[in-house]
Amino acid sequence: MTALTILSLVVSAASVVAGSFSSPPVELYSPLVAEKVLSTAQSPPSPMQYPEYTDREAGKWLYFVPDTWTTGFFPATLYALYERAELCNWGADNASQWLALGRQWSTAEVPLETNNTLEHDVGFVSFPFMDELGVDSDNQTAITAVNQFAADLAARFNPVVGCTRSWDTSDPVDFEVIIDNMMNLEVFFASAALTGNQTLIDMATSHANKTMQNHVRSDGSSFHVVEYNTTTGDVIARFTAQGYSNSSTWSRGQAWGIYGFANMYNHTKISDYLETSRRMASYFLSNLPEDGVVPWDFNAPLVPPRPADSSAAMIATNGLLLLAQQESSLSPPNTTGYNYYVESALQLLSNNTKLAWRPSWQSLLANGTVDNPEQNNLTGIVYGDYYFVRAGNELVSMNISTCSGDILSSTNGSGSPTSSGSPQASQTSDALSNRIGQLTYSGLSLLALLALA
Ligand SMILES: *[C@@H]1O[C@H](CO)[C@@H](O)[C@H](O)[C@H]1NC(C)=O
Ligand SMILES: *[C@@H]1O[C@H](CO)[C@@H](O)[C@H](O)[C@H]1NC(C)=O
Ligand SMILES: *[C@@H]1O[C@H](CO)[C@@H](O)[C@H](O)[C@H]1NC(C)=O
Ligand SMILES: *[C@@H]1O[C@H](CO)[C@@H](O)[C@H](O)[C@H]1NC(C)=O
Ligand SMILES: *[C@@H]1O[C@H](CO)[C@@H](O)[C@H](O)[C@H]1NC(C)=O
Ligand SMILES: *[C@@H]1O[C@H](CO)[C@@H](O)[C@H](O)[C@H]1NC(C)=O
Ligand SMILES: *[C@@H]1O[C@H](CO)[C@@H](O)[C@H](O)[C@H]1NC(C)=O
Ligand SMILES: *[C@@H]1O[C@H](CO)[C@@H](O)[C@H](O)[C@H]1NC(C)=O
Ligand SMILES: *[C@@H]1O[C@H](CO)[C@@H](O)[C@H](O)[C@H]1NC(C)=O
Ligand SMILES: *[C@@H]1O[C@H](CO)[C@@H](O)[C@H](O)[C@H]1NC(C)=O
Ligand SMILES: *[C@@H]1O[C@H](CO)[C@@H](O)[C@H](O)[C@H]1NC(C)=O
Ligand SMILES: *[C@@H]1O[C@H](CO)[C@@H](O)[C@H](O)[C@H]1NC(C)=O
Repeated sequence: MTALTILSLVVSAASVVAGSFSSPPVELYSPLVAEKVLSTAQSPPSPMQYPEYTDREAGKWLYFVPDTWTTGFFPATLYALYERAELCNWGADNASQWLALGRQWSTAEVPLETNNTLEHDVGFVSFPFMDELGVDSDNQTAITAVNQFAADLAARFNPVVGCTRSWDTSDPVDFEVIIDNMMNLEVFFASAALTGNQTLIDMATSHANKTMQNHVRSDGSSFHVVEYNTTTGDVIARFTAQGYSNSSTWSRGQAWGIYGFANMYNHTKISDYLETSRRMASYFLSNLPEDGVVPWDFNAPLVPPRPADSSAAMIATNGLLLLAQQESSLSPPNTTGYNYYVESALQLLSNNTKLAWRPSWQSLLANGTVDNPEQNNLTGIVYGDYYFVRAGNELVSMNISTCSGDILSSTNGSGSPTSSGSPQASQTSDALSNRIGQLTYSGLSLLALLALA
């Protein structure tokens, strides 16, 4: 064998096994996760209300009426723990308890289908029903909910502007679209999958195209709000509602964008969306302070307590993992991109969990900023907790981590979610083949070094 042959073997082995990932934070799979969520789930208020954020001192949940944009996140967290019970072999009884709780906590959302003030947030509120369809695709309650909420969002689409309206305004000529709205497009795809209605997919694509053009700046950062003229479709103004200034980048909005465009790419394979998600990720990662703690706005002064936004960190973590999955779905798989986004997600998760994990609070995490201009900061937040749980599930279903937080593998860039069968069994065999891969890799590296010497 020539040195060149050996080198090329090393290179191909390296593309299979490319070095080891950092471990996820130990808290990610702590028994406290299930314990705290269960305790909240077992005492639903009557009449039904939903946790949104906590107070700042004791970390106790504050509850809001069902007609609130965040209502879907707690039931969706219960479905996520059902998924975890399956992924982690917690047993059939355990899994069915989580499922029953997820269903129980969804029922008070059903009347919202025909009576809500949710504006574009009908998409977020649909999450538990989309989850239900993953469990029971014939559940008529969930089918109706997804189709109704999608029709509700579709009714907010304006063909002149090319977007769904996020917020209503006193002057109907002002048409406000926020970057968060990217997340609500998912309900269009879920409904189209049920009915075959292509109009919904076209609306999603049009909305994403406009957002890509008008919200995302050339450096990959983003405006929170873009206001269009309903008559002409022209942009009237770009500004912030929840950020530091009109020209700043609000970190949660940036995180919604990373996730939202990766999701659009997953559904449409339009490469501009992949490129936009990458650019938004790049801005997010390269503008973090040295400790990796996500500030509430990238342009706000870093004076203590700055404050952080752990929810933006958790949303971005999931966005990066979804982006990594898109890189690995390319042909050939983009292993470099996959490895980079997975490792970045793991570091973001670790740095922000270290700051925000709060055992004595009802929420899993503290250090969330709901709305700093409204002076609502330093709380637990239901969507921060939801995306924290989801990150733990994703790392397991992507075969990156075990349910006890051990890194399974450096990766082969084929990290697609295990959809069926026995996840535990496939993890074990994957771990084994990766360990064999690693041994082969170090053996070949040694040979290559010897050959070059
Ligand atoms: C399910 O099992 C997990 C892991 O053992 C445990 O932490 C959790 O409390 C159980 N959940 C239920 C609903 O029994
Ligand atoms: C169908 O789904 C809804 C929520 O999506 C749930 O409340 C209900 O219990 C489910 N029905 C059955 C029969 O599983
Ligand atoms: C719509 O919901 C509100 C509560 O969010 C309730 O007060 C009102 O009675 C409902 N309207 C109808 C027609 O059901
Ligand atoms: C598709 O959805 C749009 C928006 O809700 C609706 O107007 C249209 O009637 C639907 N088309 C079909 C074939 O159901
Ligand atoms: C969105 O943009 C893509 C190209 O980036 C284009 O192929 C597609 O037709 C556009 N869709 C709509 C509805 O404007
Ligand atoms: C919207 O466009 C119309 C038509 O050009 C114009 O008359 C109106 O002043 C515009 N409104 C704003 C707020 O820019
Ligand atoms: C931010 O933009 C809005 C909308 O254009 C405007 O009303 C407001 O005055 C701007 N704020 C500052 C500080 O410039
Ligand atoms: C990607 O989209 C497909 C359908 O187009 C869907 O089945 C799959 O769940 C999506 N993946 C993710 C990670 O959202
Ligand atoms: C996490 O923080 C450490 C320092 O504690 C830093 O070296 C690392 O770069 C940070 N990670 C990210 C993604 O910022
Ligand atoms: C995190 O939250 C605690 C209080 O819960 C606060 O003392 C600390 O300053 C916060 N840190 C950041 C970076 O926001
Ligand atoms: C792989 O991903 C990285 C990071 O997103 C990107 O810079 C690079 O262009 C991608 N390579 C290919 C071949 O798509
Ligand atoms: C956080 O909120 C408090 C009020 O709850 C406010 O006084 C403070 O200015 C906010 N922090 C920052 C850095 O804006």
